[in-house]
Amino acid sequence: MLDLNRRHLLAGTAATFVAVQAGTSQAQTETIRSDDRRTRFDTGWRFAFGHLYDAEKDFGYGADQRTYAKQGIDATPVAKADYDDSQWRPVTLPHDWAVELPFVHKEPKTPLKPDDHGAVWDPAANHGYKPLGRDYPETSVGWYRKTFTLDAADKGKRISLEFDGVFRDAMVVINGYIVKRNDSGYTPFRVELNDFLNTHDTPNTVLVRVDASFGEGWFYEGAGIYRHVWLVRTDPVHIPQYGVCVRAKTDGTVEVTTTVRNNSNVPQKVRVSSSVHYQDVPSSNPNTYDESSAELAAWGAAEVVHHVKVDKPALWSLEEPHLYFINTNLWLDDVNADLVTTRFGFRDIKFDAETGFFLNGKSVKLKGICNHQDHAGVGAAIPDALQRWRLQQLKDMGCNAYRASHNPPTPELLDLCDEMGILVIDETRLMTSSPEGLAQLETLIRRDRNHPSVILWSIGNEEPQQGTDRGANIARTMKRLCNDLDPTRLITAAMDNGYGLGITEVIDVIGFNYRDQLIDGFHDKFPNKPIIGTETASTVSTRGEYIKDDAAHIVPAYDTTAPWWATTAEGWWPHFDAKPYIAGGFIWTGFDYRGEPTPYSEWPSISSQFGALDTCGFPKDNYYYYRAWWRPEPLLHLFPHWNWEGQEGKDISVWAHSNADEVELFVNGKSAGRKTVTKDFHVEWTVPYQPGKIEAFAYKAGKVILKDKRETAGAPAKVVLTTDRTTLVNDGMDCTVIKAEVFDAKGRPVPKADNLITFAVSGPGAVIGVGNGNPNSHEADKASQRQAFNGLCCAIVQVTGAGGITVTATAEGLAGGKVVLKSA
Ligand code: GAL
Repeated sequence: MLDLNRRHLLAGTAATFVAVQAGTSQAQTETIRSDDRRTRFDTGWRFAFGHLYDAEKDFGYGADQRTYAKQGIDATPVAKADYDDSQWRPVTLPHDWAVELPFVHKEPKTPLKPDDHGAVWDPAANHGYKPLGRDYPETSVGWYRKTFTLDAADKGKRISLEFDGVFRDAMVVINGYIVKRNDSGYTPFRVELNDFLNTHDTPNTVLVRVDASFGEGWFYEGAGIYRHVWLVRTDPVHIPQYGVCVRAKTDGTVEVTTTVRNNSNVPQKVRVSSSVHYQDVPSSNPNTYDESSAELAAWGAAEVVHHVKVDKPALWSLEEPHLYFINTNLWLDDVNADLVTTRFGFRDIKFDAETGFFLNGKSVKLKGICNHQDHAGVGAAIPDALQRWRLQQLKDMGCNAYRASHNPPTPELLDLCDEMGILVIDETRLMTSSPEGLAQLETLIRRDRNHPSVILWSIGNEEPQQGTDRGANIARTMKRLCNDLDPTRLITAAMDNGYGLGITEVIDVIGFNYRDQLIDGFHDKFPNKPIIGTETASTVSTRGEYIKDDAAHIVPAYDTTAPWWATTAEGWWPHFDAKPYIAGGFIWTGFDYRGEPTPYSEWPSISSQFGALDTCGFPKDNYYYYRAWWRPEPLLHLFPHWNWEGQEGKDISVWAHSNADEVELFVNGKSAGRKTVTKDFHVEWTVPYQPGKIEAFAYKAGKVILKDKRETAGAPAKVVLTTDRTTLVNDGMDCTVIKAEVFDAKGRPVPKADNLITFAVSGPGAVIGVGNGNPNSHEADKASQRQAFNGLCCAIVQVTGAGGITVTATAEGLAGGKVVLKSA
């Protein structure tokens, strides 16, 4: 049932949303300090729902005003400085309103037909059953409003707003003027404000109308201004957005191309300098500095090219991702008019059709994951610290590569991949050579080409035209643009048919989505085409479940289940591992994601079950398969749990993922056999259940190197909270994931615990979302309580100020848990 009450519609939030938005108790006019070139513009916004069809609800002046006839404050009263937005809800960006809405299931108007494989695909399910789209006019359009004044010192400066990503169809209105429409939900855009700004103390009103009624993908995509917004302030003569392009070679040579713009009425003579810095320490070597002059016509631009050289640069690698900086300074006479710092790395990449991928001359198998961009509790509005946390979980699994499927990622994600040593396939959303398609691709490349982590541009995913001549034409035009903007990287596309036809001859690296059985034949036929698995596996599993239950939409977490087009972890990795000409593969997916519920494509499932980790980032058993074979450290992971009440005497399949030589299983102290481990495979026993303990010993060269155990737990007795970061930065954004786990009185994890856990925070912090990884749960993400799912749930706690923060968890009948954080 659709449970949207008046408060939802008025204030734009789920009634159950009790978590506090950091630092936004009151909207007020923000004064932007003039000392920063680029300032985060995330706070002080107010939000309300608009309307999909009823223009009067958005534009409010009555029928006569329902046009864009005149520009200025009459476009909508909502843009007026004195508009009363006190009923609007304060929000801090990034913000995803979809995650705040309830899950809604309506029977489709016409019954859905099963596909050739018997699966029923409900479009509402694809987007995670959130009330968006034409059936939900009241919750599909959102308005954001903010007022700000600029310093008097900013008079004469160029002022712009940079939006990293808005889902989607954004209309930006400044002081009543519509200054930008931007369709894409993933491509960043920039709005120059100058002509429309109020000067001096008169506040400026910025309004953003966002229409999320239409999707761009077949997965959950969020809704709203779900990435950062920046206010950028420069002199009229300045370096524009994406104005510095750095090309560095491992011999230490660097070519820096800088665009300089003159937004003034007089021609200007400028001096531009480029200097290299390493970890913020200026180098004394004169080769690391270059400068030149340029003449700029009034309202004109010029490009300068500099060459600098670093002796024996520390290379960017997966193990040691050394990052350098170029400081580009712009001088008008002796006045420093602009300074832009660009981070880059020295590294060399190569794809070889016979021997795979090489980084700095060293063979690297791509152990990749594909991911969408949502997380439990916060949806698409992932705070930067949570992006880092997610990447760390993947790195811990042994993953060294990330495919941003199927859209340009948040810029911070690429910054983090640079810092953490993770390779990236950067993908555009639309495979088309239409002006919009090319514009999106161009923005992607200009934005991302300085990142050492990016190794390939992906121009599409499973596009219907892939095997056709038209597809080849489109791909050729896209490739020309890619090569023009960035001759240093190859292009790929993720194909699921038409291998050998259409775009095959155009793209440099062939991406196989599944169809592993065709790879060897393709390689024989096209021995000069490098190959990667752009999507592999698509294994489905429910964390902590070991018996298939179709009625409950549960799939066992053994590595046994995959849809018809897909395979298990063991179904793809041993093959990819063994063949040097396959450069590597990207599993679908690292984390479970909302929407595209698979294998159960219907209500009540709201999430996919493809992840090696669930939507909260809790590892499933397959995570340990990859960790065993993707990382060098010895590993032993034993499963399932050992609480099979009522199954006494019945056979239970016991598995271990391990990279040791042998593993021996003991059931209540008695050996059930020692098994030899085959590379890239698990070991397995079948034993009758008896309560107590299963224990595994892993042997290397005959010696026990690791032990793991599962014990029959008693009744839930306590909640224990843990987190990997207790010292947080007081920047209004930092956050940490708090794991809540249910234990019995003897401290053993209770594998089936489903207690309702309530989180509370004292001190300068707030719960910004909760989750439990259950793909069938309809509990609210924006809440302070959550049922444990198979023993676990989590809360994400964000800082709101400086000081000590105590997070507690309580559950009826259980001893509570506590964790103490510090924000400084
Ligand atoms: C692929 C597709 C992905 C996802 C996946 C599920 O065909 O590219 O977006 O749908 O299948 O296995």
